Amino acid sequence: MQSDLIQQKNKKKLIKNFEKVFGSNKNLSVFFAPGRINIIGEHIDYCGGKVLPAAIDKGTFVVISPSSKKYFSCFSKNENDLVNFTSKEISAKYPIFWVRYLMGVLQHLQTKTKISPCNIYIEGNLPLESGLSSSASLLLVLSWALQYLSDFRYNENDFENRKQTALVCQKIENQFIGLQCGIMDQAVVALAKQNNVMLLDCEKFELEWLECNLGEDTFLIVNSNKPRSLIESKYNQRKQETDQCLLWLQRKMQITSLAGIPTEQLEEALSFIPVKTLQKRLKHQVTENQRVKLAYQQIAAKDNIGLGKTLKESHLSLRENYEVTGKELDLIFDYSIQNKSVKGVRMTGAGFAGCLIVLLPKNEVENYQNQIQGKYQAATGLKLSFYSTTFTQGVRKI
Ligand code: GLA
Repeated sequence: MQSDLIQQKNKKKLIKNFEKVFGSNKNLSVFFAPGRINIIGEHIDYCGGKVLPAAIDKGTFVVISPSSKKYFSCFSKNENDLVNFTSKEISAKYPIFWVRYLMGVLQHLQTKTKISPCNIYIEGNLPLESGLSSSASLLLVLSWALQYLSDFRYNENDFENRKQTALVCQKIENQFIGLQCGIMDQAVVALAKQNNVMLLDCEKFELEWLECNLGEDTFLIVNSNKPRSLIESKYNQRKQETDQCLLWLQRKMQITSLAGIPTEQLEEALSFIPVKTLQKRLKHQVTENQRVKLAYQQIAAKDNIGLGKTLKESHLSLRENYEVTGKELDLIFDYSIQNKSVKGVRMTGAGFAGCLIVLLPKNEVENYQNQIQGKYQAATGLKLSFYSTTFTQGVRKI
Protein backbone atom coordinates (compact mmCIF):
# COMPACT_ATOMS: atom_id res chain seq x y z
CA MET A 1 0.00 0.00 0.00
CA GLN A 2 1.35 3.36 -1.02
CA SER A 3 0.39 5.20 2.15
CA ASP A 4 2.22 2.62 4.28
CA LEU A 5 5.35 2.95 2.14
CA ILE A 6 5.27 6.69 2.76
CA GLN A 7 4.96 6.03 6.45
CA GLN A 8 7.92 3.67 6.51
CA LYS A 9 9.99 6.44 4.94
CA ASN A 10 8.62 8.88 7.47
CA LYS A 11 9.51 6.49 10.25
CA LYS A 12 13.25 6.65 9.55
CA LYS A 13 13.16 10.43 9.48
CA LEU A 14 11.12 10.60 12.66
CA ILE A 15 13.55 8.35 14.50
CA LYS A 16 16.45 10.56 13.40
CA ASN A 17 14.58 13.61 14.65
CA PHE A 18 13.85 11.91 17.95
CA GLU A 19 17.53 11.05 18.36
CA LYS A 20 18.58 14.64 17.67
CA VAL A 21 16.55 15.72 20.70
CA PHE A 22 16.93 12.78 23.08
CA GLY A 23 20.06 10.93 21.92
CA SER A 24 20.14 7.48 20.36
CA ASN A 25 17.90 4.82 21.78
CA LYS A 26 17.26 1.20 20.79
CA ASN A 27 13.99 0.94 22.62
CA LEU A 28 11.69 3.23 20.72
CA SER A 29 8.33 2.88 19.01
CA VAL A 30 6.55 5.01 16.41
CA PHE A 31 2.81 5.71 16.15
CA PHE A 32 0.53 7.56 13.76
CA ALA A 33 -3.00 8.91 14.16
CA PRO A 34 -4.82 10.43 11.19
CA GLY A 35 -6.87 13.60 10.94
CA ARG A 36 -10.31 13.46 9.36
CA ILE A 37 -12.77 15.14 7.09
CA ASN A 38 -16.45 14.97 7.81
CA ILE A 39 -18.39 14.29 4.62
CA ILE A 40 -21.64 15.35 6.29
CA GLY A 41 -23.42 15.46 9.68
CA GLU A 42 -22.00 18.67 11.10
CA HIS A 43 -22.53 19.85 14.66
CA ILE A 44 -24.99 17.07 15.36
CA ASP A 45 -22.72 14.53 17.08
CA TYR A 46 -23.24 16.21 20.45
CA CYS A 47 -27.01 16.00 19.89
CA GLY A 48 -27.14 12.27 19.22
CA GLY A 49 -27.09 12.60 15.44
CA LYS A 50 -25.55 10.47 12.72
CA VAL A 51 -22.28 11.57 11.13
CA LEU A 52 -20.25 10.44 8.13
CA PRO A 53 -16.53 11.13 8.58
CA ALA A 54 -13.44 9.49 7.06
CA ALA A 55 -9.80 9.54 8.20
CA ILE A 56 -7.24 11.18 5.91
CA ASP A 57 -3.57 10.46 5.35
CA LYS A 58 -2.33 13.55 7.16
CA GLY A 59 -2.00 13.30 10.91
CA THR A 60 0.25 13.20 13.94
CA PHE A 61 3.30 11.04 14.60
CA VAL A 62 4.74 10.15 17.99
CA VAL A 63 8.08 8.51 18.77
CA ILE A 64 8.31 7.27 22.33
CA SER A 65 10.84 5.52 24.56
CA PRO A 66 11.11 4.73 28.27
CA SER A 67 13.52 6.99 30.11
CA SER A 68 15.68 6.59 33.19
CA LYS A 69 15.04 10.18 34.28
CA LYS A 70 12.56 11.07 37.01
CA TYR A 71 10.41 13.25 34.75
CA PHE A 72 8.57 13.20 31.43
CA SER A 73 10.28 14.90 28.49
CA CYS A 74 8.30 15.92 25.48
CA PHE A 75 9.38 17.69 22.30
CA SER A 76 6.92 19.14 19.80
CA LYS A 77 8.42 19.73 16.35
CA ASN A 78 5.55 22.03 15.36
CA GLU A 79 5.98 24.20 18.45
CA ASN A 80 9.77 23.73 18.45
CA ASP A 81 9.56 23.32 22.20
CA LEU A 82 11.00 20.83 24.69
CA VAL A 83 9.11 20.55 27.96
CA ASN A 84 10.05 18.54 31.07
CA PHE A 85 7.61 17.91 33.91
CA THR A 86 7.06 15.52 36.79
CA SER A 87 3.82 13.68 37.60
CA LYS A 88 3.10 16.23 40.32
CA GLU A 89 2.99 19.07 37.80
CA ILE A 90 0.21 17.51 35.70
CA SER A 91 -2.64 20.00 35.53
CA ALA A 92 -5.41 21.19 33.20
CA LYS A 93 -4.09 24.70 33.87
CA TYR A 94 -0.50 23.99 32.81
CA PRO A 95 0.75 27.24 31.22
CA ILE A 96 1.89 25.67 27.93
CA PHE A 97 -1.34 24.81 26.16
CA TRP A 98 -0.20 21.99 23.86
CA VAL A 99 1.30 20.10 26.82
CA ARG A 100 -2.17 19.85 28.39
CA TYR A 101 -3.15 17.24 25.77
CA LEU A 102 -0.33 14.99 26.94
CA MET A 103 -1.07 15.75 30.57
CA GLY A 104 -4.75 14.88 30.09
CA VAL A 105 -3.82 11.47 28.69
CA LEU A 106 -1.25 10.85 31.45
CA GLN A 107 -3.66 11.85 34.19
CA HIS A 108 -6.27 9.44 32.89
CA LEU A 109 -3.86 6.54 32.43
CA GLN A 110 -2.34 7.06 35.86
CA THR A 111 -5.71 6.25 37.41
CA LYS A 112 -5.54 2.85 35.65
CA THR A 113 -1.91 1.82 35.68
CA LYS A 114 1.62 2.92 36.52
CA ILE A 115 3.16 5.18 33.91
CA SER A 116 6.92 5.56 34.16
CA PRO A 117 8.81 8.58 32.80
CA CYS A 118 9.45 8.56 29.07
CA ASN A 119 10.72 10.65 26.19
CA ILE A 120 8.13 11.68 23.63
CA TYR A 121 8.68 13.28 20.25
CA ILE A 122 5.63 14.73 18.44
CA GLU A 123 5.46 15.82 14.81
CA GLY A 124 2.38 16.46 12.71
CA ASN A 125 1.51 17.42 9.15
CA LEU A 126 -2.09 18.46 9.74
CA PRO A 127 -2.84 22.16 9.65
CA LEU A 128 -3.77 23.15 13.21
CA GLU A 129 -7.14 24.68 14.17
CA SER A 130 -8.46 24.09 10.66
CA GLY A 131 -11.31 21.67 11.09
CA LEU A 132 -9.32 18.52 10.27
CA SER A 133 -9.20 17.27 13.87
CA SER A 134 -5.60 17.93 14.77
CA SER A 135 -6.52 17.76 18.45
CA ALA A 136 -8.27 14.38 18.29
CA SER A 137 -5.33 13.12 16.24
CA LEU A 138 -2.88 14.30 18.92
CA LEU A 139 -4.90 12.86 21.81
CA LEU A 140 -5.36 9.48 20.14
CA VAL A 141 -1.74 9.07 19.08
CA LEU A 142 -0.54 9.95 22.59
CA SER A 143 -3.07 7.58 24.18
CA TRP A 144 -2.07 4.78 21.85
CA ALA A 145 1.66 5.29 22.42
CA LEU A 146 1.33 5.52 26.20
CA GLN A 147 -0.98 2.51 26.41
CA TYR A 148 1.60 0.56 24.43
CA LEU A 149 4.48 1.68 26.62
CA SER A 150 2.66 0.89 29.84
CA ASP A 151 1.25 -2.32 28.43
CA PHE A 152 -2.19 -1.13 29.52
CA ARG A 153 -4.98 -2.82 27.60
CA TYR A 154 -2.99 -2.30 24.40
CA ASN A 155 -4.37 -4.30 21.53
CA GLU A 156 -4.14 -2.99 17.97
CA ASN A 157 -7.02 -5.09 16.72
CA ASP A 158 -9.49 -4.90 19.54
CA PHE A 159 -12.59 -2.85 18.62
CA GLU A 160 -13.60 -2.38 22.24
CA ASN A 161 -10.20 -0.97 23.20
CA ARG A 162 -10.33 1.48 20.30
CA LYS A 163 -13.84 2.53 21.25
CA GLN A 164 -12.94 3.03 24.92
CA THR A 165 -9.84 5.01 23.95
CA ALA A 166 -11.99 7.28 21.77
CA LEU A 167 -14.42 7.86 24.65
CA VAL A 168 -11.60 8.65 27.06
CA CYS A 169 -10.06 11.12 24.61
CA GLN A 170 -13.42 12.86 24.21
CA LYS A 171 -13.62 13.15 28.00
CA ILE A 172 -10.14 14.66 28.12
CA GLU A 173 -11.14 17.19 25.44
CA ASN A 174 -14.32 18.04 27.44
CA GLN A 175 -12.84 18.13 30.92
CA PHE A 176 -9.16 18.88 30.49
CA ILE A 177 -9.08 21.09 27.39
CA GLY A 178 -12.51 22.65 27.88
CA LEU A 179 -14.20 22.00 24.53
CA GLN A 180 -17.66 20.42 24.89
CA CYS A 181 -17.22 18.42 21.68
CA GLY A 182 -19.08 15.29 20.61
CA ILE A 183 -17.55 11.89 19.84
CA MET A 184 -17.20 12.07 16.05
CA ASP A 185 -13.54 13.03 15.76
CA GLN A 186 -12.16 10.67 18.37
CA ALA A 187 -14.28 7.79 17.05
CA VAL A 188 -13.13 8.10 13.47
CA VAL A 189 -9.48 8.70 14.38
CA ALA A 190 -9.61 5.53 16.50
CA LEU A 191 -11.70 3.29 14.26
CA ALA A 192 -11.42 4.41 10.63
CA LYS A 193 -10.99 1.84 7.84
CA GLN A 194 -8.99 2.37 4.68
CA ASN A 195 -11.05 3.61 1.67
CA ASN A 196 -14.19 3.73 3.80
CA VAL A 197 -16.45 6.35 5.25
CA MET A 198 -17.86 5.64 8.68
CA LEU A 199 -21.53 6.10 9.48
CA LEU A 200 -21.65 6.66 13.22
CA ASP A 201 -24.80 6.88 15.28
CA CYS A 202 -23.53 9.14 18.04
CA GLU A 203 -26.39 8.38 20.41
CA LYS A 204 -25.83 4.62 20.43
CA PHE A 205 -22.19 4.46 19.29
CA GLU A 206 -23.17 2.12 16.48
CA LEU A 207 -21.24 2.14 13.25
CA GLU A 208 -21.48 1.00 9.68
CA TRP A 209 -18.80 1.08 7.02
CA LEU A 210 -19.23 2.09 3.44
CA GLU A 211 -16.58 1.82 0.79
CA CYS A 212 -16.30 5.19 -0.88
CA ASN A 213 -15.70 4.91 -4.59
CA LEU A 214 -16.36 8.21 -6.29
CA GLY A 215 -15.38 7.08 -9.79
CA GLU A 216 -14.13 10.04 -11.83
CA ASP A 217 -14.69 12.42 -8.90
CA THR A 218 -12.76 13.15 -5.75
CA PHE A 219 -13.00 15.15 -2.55
CA LEU A 220 -10.56 18.04 -2.47
CA ILE A 221 -9.86 19.77 0.84
CA VAL A 222 -9.65 23.55 0.66
CA ASN A 223 -8.07 25.34 3.60
CA SER A 224 -9.17 28.97 4.00
CA ASN A 225 -6.04 29.55 6.09
CA LYS A 226 -8.04 31.82 8.32
CA PRO A 227 -6.82 31.08 11.84
CA ARG A 228 -9.39 30.33 14.52
CA SER A 229 -9.49 28.90 18.02
CA LEU A 230 -12.36 26.57 18.85
CA ILE A 231 -12.16 27.21 22.58
CA GLU A 232 -12.63 30.91 21.90
CA SER A 233 -15.29 30.29 19.22
CA LYS A 234 -19.04 29.92 19.67
CA TYR A 235 -18.73 26.11 19.69
CA ASN A 236 -19.55 25.71 23.39
CA GLN A 237 -22.38 28.22 23.00
CA ARG A 238 -23.99 26.05 20.29
CA LYS A 239 -23.75 23.08 22.63
CA GLN A 240 -25.50 25.04 25.39
CA GLU A 241 -28.20 26.25 22.99
CA THR A 242 -29.00 22.73 21.90
CA ASP A 243 -28.99 21.48 25.52
CA GLN A 244 -31.58 24.17 26.25
CA CYS A 245 -33.72 23.05 23.29
CA LEU A 246 -33.62 19.46 24.52
CA LEU A 247 -34.70 20.53 28.02
CA TRP A 248 -37.71 22.39 26.65
CA LEU A 249 -38.69 19.60 24.29
CA GLN A 250 -38.38 16.81 26.82
CA ARG A 251 -41.10 18.50 28.89
CA LYS A 252 -43.46 18.11 25.94
CA MET A 253 -42.26 15.20 23.83
CA GLN A 254 -40.88 11.70 24.32
CA ILE A 255 -37.42 12.21 22.80
CA THR A 256 -33.93 11.16 23.76
CA SER A 257 -31.95 13.31 21.34
CA LEU A 258 -32.51 16.48 19.31
CA ALA A 259 -31.09 15.25 16.04
CA GLY A 260 -33.13 12.05 16.28
CA ILE A 261 -36.49 13.85 16.08
CA PRO A 262 -38.28 12.54 12.95
CA THR A 263 -38.85 15.15 10.22
CA GLU A 264 -42.64 14.72 10.56
CA GLN A 265 -42.39 15.99 14.15
CA LEU A 266 -40.18 18.97 13.38
CA GLU A 267 -43.01 21.52 13.09
CA GLU A 268 -44.52 20.40 16.38
CA ALA A 269 -41.11 20.51 18.08
CA LEU A 270 -40.45 24.01 16.72
CA SER A 271 -43.69 25.23 18.29
CA PHE A 272 -42.30 24.34 21.74
CA ILE A 273 -39.17 26.46 21.33
CA PRO A 274 -39.90 30.04 22.43
CA VAL A 275 -36.72 31.63 21.00
CA LYS A 276 -36.34 32.22 17.25
CA THR A 277 -32.58 31.66 17.13
CA LEU A 278 -32.94 28.37 18.95
CA GLN A 279 -35.67 27.30 16.53
CA LYS A 280 -33.08 27.67 13.77
CA ARG A 281 -30.58 25.54 15.71
CA LEU A 282 -33.20 22.81 16.07
CA LYS A 283 -34.07 22.98 12.40
CA HIS A 284 -30.44 22.38 11.50
CA GLN A 285 -30.19 19.40 13.86
CA VAL A 286 -33.18 17.59 12.41
CA THR A 287 -32.59 18.35 8.73
CA GLU A 288 -28.84 17.62 8.90
CA ASN A 289 -29.49 14.22 10.43
CA GLN A 290 -31.77 13.40 7.49
CA ARG A 291 -29.15 14.63 5.02
CA VAL A 292 -26.60 12.21 6.50
CA LYS A 293 -28.87 9.25 5.77
CA LEU A 294 -29.47 10.57 2.28
CA ALA A 295 -25.77 11.14 1.59
CA TYR A 296 -24.99 7.61 2.77
CA GLN A 297 -27.48 6.21 0.24
CA GLN A 298 -26.13 8.47 -2.48
CA ILE A 299 -22.55 7.30 -1.91
CA ALA A 300 -23.74 3.69 -1.93
CA ALA A 301 -25.67 4.30 -5.18
CA LYS A 302 -22.69 6.20 -6.69
CA ASP A 303 -25.00 9.17 -7.23
CA ASN A 304 -22.38 11.92 -7.09
CA ILE A 305 -24.72 14.58 -8.48
CA GLY A 306 -27.25 13.88 -5.74
CA LEU A 307 -24.49 13.75 -3.14
CA GLY A 308 -23.16 17.13 -4.27
CA LYS A 309 -26.59 18.67 -3.86
CA THR A 310 -26.91 17.27 -0.35
CA LEU A 311 -23.50 18.69 0.59
CA LYS A 312 -24.50 22.15 -0.61
CA GLU A 313 -27.74 22.01 1.37
CA SER A 314 -25.76 21.09 4.46
CA HIS A 315 -23.52 24.13 4.07
CA LEU A 316 -26.50 26.42 3.58
CA SER A 317 -28.14 25.14 6.76
CA LEU A 318 -24.87 25.60 8.68
CA ARG A 319 -24.76 29.15 7.33
CA GLU A 320 -28.40 30.19 7.78
CA ASN A 321 -29.64 28.11 10.70
CA TYR A 322 -26.56 27.22 12.68
CA GLU A 323 -24.41 30.28 11.92
CA VAL A 324 -21.03 28.60 12.12
CA THR A 325 -19.60 29.17 8.65
CA GLY A 326 -18.05 32.65 8.73
CA LYS A 327 -17.05 35.04 5.95
CA GLU A 328 -14.14 33.13 4.45
CA LEU A 329 -15.87 29.76 4.20
CA ASP A 330 -18.94 31.37 2.66
CA LEU A 331 -16.84 33.18 0.08
CA ILE A 332 -15.19 29.92 -0.96
CA PHE A 333 -18.58 28.21 -1.03
CA ASP A 334 -20.04 30.95 -3.24
CA TYR A 335 -17.07 30.92 -5.64
CA SER A 336 -17.15 27.13 -5.80
CA ILE A 337 -20.82 26.78 -6.71
CA GLN A 338 -20.26 29.18 -9.61
CA ASN A 339 -17.73 26.74 -11.04
CA LYS A 340 -19.60 24.37 -13.35
CA SER A 341 -17.37 21.38 -12.66
CA VAL A 342 -18.06 21.46 -8.90
CA LYS A 343 -20.74 18.94 -7.88
CA GLY A 344 -20.81 19.80 -4.21
CA VAL A 345 -19.06 21.81 -1.53
CA ARG A 346 -19.45 22.39 2.19
CA MET A 347 -17.49 23.36 5.27
CA THR A 348 -16.06 20.41 7.19
CA GLY A 349 -15.51 20.18 10.95
CA ALA A 350 -16.54 22.81 13.45
CA GLY A 351 -16.42 25.72 11.01
CA PHE A 352 -16.04 29.41 11.94
CA ALA A 353 -13.05 29.23 9.52
CA GLY A 354 -10.85 26.28 8.62
CA CYS A 355 -11.53 23.91 5.73
CA LEU A 356 -14.15 22.93 3.17
CA ILE A 357 -14.49 19.83 1.07
CA VAL A 358 -15.25 20.07 -2.62
CA LEU A 359 -16.61 17.22 -4.74
CA LEU A 360 -15.43 17.54 -8.33
CA PRO A 361 -13.92 15.52 -11.19
CA LYS A 362 -10.26 14.59 -10.64
CA ASN A 363 -9.29 16.12 -13.96
CA GLU A 364 -10.82 19.48 -13.03
CA VAL A 365 -8.93 19.90 -9.77
CA GLU A 366 -6.13 21.99 -11.23
CA ASN A 367 -8.45 24.36 -13.12
CA TYR A 368 -10.60 24.79 -10.06
CA GLN A 369 -7.61 25.58 -7.85
CA ASN A 370 -6.24 28.14 -10.28
CA GLN A 371 -9.58 29.87 -10.64
CA ILE A 372 -10.47 30.10 -7.01
CA GLN A 373 -7.04 31.01 -5.64
CA GLY A 374 -6.89 34.38 -7.42
CA LYS A 375 -10.42 35.40 -6.51
CA TYR A 376 -10.00 34.47 -2.85
CA GLN A 377 -6.66 36.17 -2.53
CA ALA A 378 -7.98 39.37 -4.07
CA ALA A 379 -10.94 39.39 -1.69
CA THR A 380 -9.23 38.45 1.56
CA GLY A 381 -5.48 38.84 1.20
CA LEU A 382 -5.20 35.20 2.28
CA LYS A 383 -3.88 32.28 0.23
CA LEU A 384 -5.74 28.96 0.03
CA SER A 385 -4.07 25.58 0.54
CA PHE A 386 -5.38 22.44 -1.14
CA TYR A 387 -4.99 18.80 -0.06
CA SER A 388 -6.05 15.69 -1.91
CA THR A 389 -7.81 12.96 0.05
CA THR A 390 -6.94 9.31 0.59
CA PHE A 391 -9.07 7.57 3.18
CA THR A 392 -6.85 5.74 5.62
CA GLN A 393 -7.24 3.54 8.72
CA GLY A 394 -7.28 4.74 12.33
CA VAL A 395 -4.50 5.20 14.90
CA ARG A 396 -1.73 2.60 14.67
CA LYS A 397 1.82 1.60 15.44
CA ILE A 398 4.03 1.95 12.35
C1 GLA B 1 -15.54 19.51 16.12
C2 GLA B 1 -15.92 18.59 17.29
C3 GLA B 1 -16.83 17.45 16.84
C4 GLA B 1 -18.00 17.95 16.01
C5 GLA B 1 -17.54 18.92 14.93
C6 GLA B 1 -18.69 19.56 14.20
O1 GLA B 1 -14.73 18.84 15.22
O2 GLA B 1 -14.77 18.06 17.89
O3 GLA B 1 -17.27 16.74 17.97
O4 GLA B 1 -18.98 18.53 16.83
O5 GLA B 1 -16.73 19.95 15.46
O6 GLA B 1 -19.43 18.61 13.53
